[in-house]
Amino acid sequence: MSRVVVVLLFVAALFHADTTFAQGNADAGKAMWNGQQMWCRNCHGEKGEGAFGPDLAARKLSFDQFKHAVRQPWGVMPAFTPEWISDQDLQNLMAFLDTQPAVTEPGKLRVAEPPAGSPLGLQLLVTGYGCAQCHGANMGGTRQDMGSGISDFEWFKRQVYTHTTEMPAYRKVLGEDNSILRMGNFSAARLPEATLREMWNYTVSLGPRAYITSRMTSKPAANGTEYTLVVDNGGLPGKGLVAEDATITISLAPGVTVANPSQQGYQGVKADAGLKADAVVWRTAKIAPHEPQTFTFTVSGGAAGTAPVGRGEVRWAKPLSEAKPDFIAIGAPAPAGAGRGGRGGGAQ
Ligand code: HEC
Ligand code: HEC
Repeated sequence: MSRVVVVLLFVAALFHADTTFAQGNADAGKAMWNGQQMWCRNCHGEKGEGAFGPDLAARKLSFDQFKHAVRQPWGVMPAFTPEWISDQDLQNLMAFLDTQPAVTEPGKLRVAEPPAGSPLGLQLLVTGYGCAQCHGANMGGTRQDMGSGISDFEWFKRQVYTHTTEMPAYRKVLGEDNSILRMGNFSAARLPEATLREMWNYTVSLGPRAYITSRMTSKPAANGTEYTLVVDNGGLPGKGLVAEDATITISLAPGVTVANPSQQGYQGVKADAGLKADAVVWRTAKIAPHEPQTFTFTVSGGAAGTAPVGRGEVRWAKPLSEAKPDFIAIGAPAPAGAGRGGRGGGAQ
């Protein structure tokens, strides 16, 4: 091959790589669309088929159209800033969505429209502005913040209108190190304060919840796998609601044996109706702000290739919310040393 041809091929390869970059990487976009960092799918459908928001699959918008819709939304969609979702991320998301099959019929709402005659606040949360598409109709996570001891309507307002700066600041106050941000900023012109207050009043009417968090890790042990669960209360000491009369349950796969459970409050292994499985159970009188409690146990046996331990719950009898008793889900165990877990029962 002549030198000139080689150089030309090289230049062509570079040019090609550059064009691919400019058009976005569909694989990276797919990972982001399906991942935990962005929840566009909660409003636009799992595959971009449409739900609360319009279908985006195979829409083939220009990048400028796509970007405008995300940075300065036309209607009620919250705005996402470049610090949290970059132009390159948008290129990637768009590239992925354009590879999805076009939609003939729009998809269904993730959280269904409430029955006619429901309180206005609930209708606004679910169908008016789509909040419940991420938070659930009972705004469980936000009500935990109401129980943390520092939330009021002014706080709520800041969280909704200036979420991308307010949420990191609030996490600092609570001492959390979560760096994911999935909600954008709502426009006060499109979601006026009086409307927001209606949503707030409805959320308050459901009652605040204790801000219980859980984190489970696992590591191999000589005689099986050792699990460590830390249950805590993320509220402000002296101000946050204390959970009382709490039960901790973690489901077990069939045939596993439990050894060395931590003794404080231990109730043994019992059939659990809620988890529909045998569960290892502890009770504790109180879970107070920033007084973490640790529960450990080791399991062995069970079918090969099956997780020996499944989901769990922390349930508490007081203070009550609409769920009796109130509870949070305990997530699947992370390897020891992995990032922090969160509260359950919140945004979902
Ligand atoms: C609260 C629900 C909600 C969330 C979350 C959401 N959207 Fe939207 N989106 C909408 C609605 C509703 C519209 C219609 C225009 C409006 O109301 O702003 C829309 C419009 C769009 C459009 C314009 C479509 C068109 O027909 O021109 C794009 C593009 C878009 N969204 C992308 C995204 C991306 C990317 C994300 C995640 C970063 C996202 N949206 C998150 C509700 C949402
Ligand atoms: C795309 C999903 C999504 C939508 C839509 C959404 N939120 Fe959120 N919201 C979240 C998540 C997730 C958090 C936790 C912080 C984060 O990741 O951004 C949050 C945090 C909040 C907080 C701070 C306290 C808390 O619960 O952590 C408030 C208050 C809040 N949202 C209210 C609203 C209201 C009101 C609306 C509708 C006007 C709304 N949200 C729409 C996902 C969403």
